[in-house]
Amino acid sequence: MKVILTGSAGQLGLALRSSVPDLIASEPVELVPTSRNGGDGVLALDLADAAACRDLVEQHRPDWLINAGAYTAVDQSESEPELARAVNAGAPSAFAEALQATGGRLLQLSTDFVFNGSQGAPYTTDQGVDPLGVYGSTKAAGETASAAALSAERLCILRTSWVYGPVGHNFLLTMLRLMAQREQLGVVADQVGCPTATSGLACACWAVLEHGVAGVQHWSDAGVASWYDFALAIAEIGQAAGLLEKPARINPITTADYPTPAERPSYSLLDCTSSRAALQLPPHHWREALGQVIAQVAA
Ligand SMILES: NC(=O)c1ccc[n+]([C@@H]2O[C@H](COP(=O)([O-])OP(=O)(O)OC[C@H]3O[C@@H](n4cnc5c(N)ncnc54)[C@H](OP(=O)(O)O)[C@@H]3O)[C@@H](O)[C@H]2O)c1
Repeated sequence: MKVILTGSAGQLGLALRSSVPDLIASEPVELVPTSRNGGDGVLALDLADAAACRDLVEQHRPDWLINAGAYTAVDQSESEPELARAVNAGAPSAFAEALQATGGRLLQLSTDFVFNGSQGAPYTTDQGVDPLGVYGSTKAAGETASAAALSAERLCILRTSWVYGPVGHNFLLTMLRLMAQREQLGVVADQVGCPTATSGLACACWAVLEHGVAGVQHWSDAGVASWYDFALAIAEIGQAAGLLEKPARINPITTADYPTPAERPSYSLLDCTSSRAALQLPPHHWREALGQVIAQVAA
């Protein structure tokens, strides 16, 4: 089974590259990783170049393409909407068109930020989207464009939330750095969602390919947290793991106290019940996953 992976230098891409199964659906796996700059066995691909995205599929004719690459700088996207749209909507659209012609399948990663966060209950996979900012709008446009171009049974849209891992740019690593440098830290307590470790998310991606899952799916770790809860757990577990001698005091603040260019959903929990059944994967609580990731960072 030939699998193209985009964004292979990103958080999820790295987790996918380090967990490639020997066999998927009883076939040996040939992974074709791509990243912005390429090198060292990785092909260079600019996701803002739709023609290059189409050419790659036509040349390699993969069984699956996992589109883990994205413009993920949520605040910066407000001042670069065209680039964000080209990467987050143009690339999946081009991949879907080309895969429709070659007969391949697409796993398109998407986000809880396609929802406005106002319903105050977990979002199910069949609910309509209503993004608040440029990032969420462009990711939602990527979902719509890929669904318009590719047969439904060959497309899986996997939405996830609050992704972090032992490498890359993420909340865990930022908090560990700031907690070691400062005495006090204000962290937003009125945005609620669920952290998701890249290791579990990578397992979910491979399960999509293994079971040939299609449609809109939701995957996050289990449980609920505010960013404040997440930060407190990082301090506690990070200190126990020896990463922090005396962590900064964490104070709860409101979204209004910490204005950002992009508006974020205040409640973006994803209901993963039906997807856990489809992917045949058990729930894994976010605190347990956090402990495992912190142990990796400390090793
Ligand atoms: N991070 C989250 O909290 C979160 C939450 C929900 C959903 N998601 C989704 O999950 C997926 C994986 O996210 P992640 O956390 O692994 O993101 P990430 O660490 O930011 O990785 C994204 C990768 O895409 C690459 N990329 C961006 N623009 C590109 C371009 N024009 N050409 C080629 N490559 C480009 C980036 O390369 P550079 O580093 O060179 O820019 C980066 O390696 C994405 O679809 C994202 O939207 C993420």
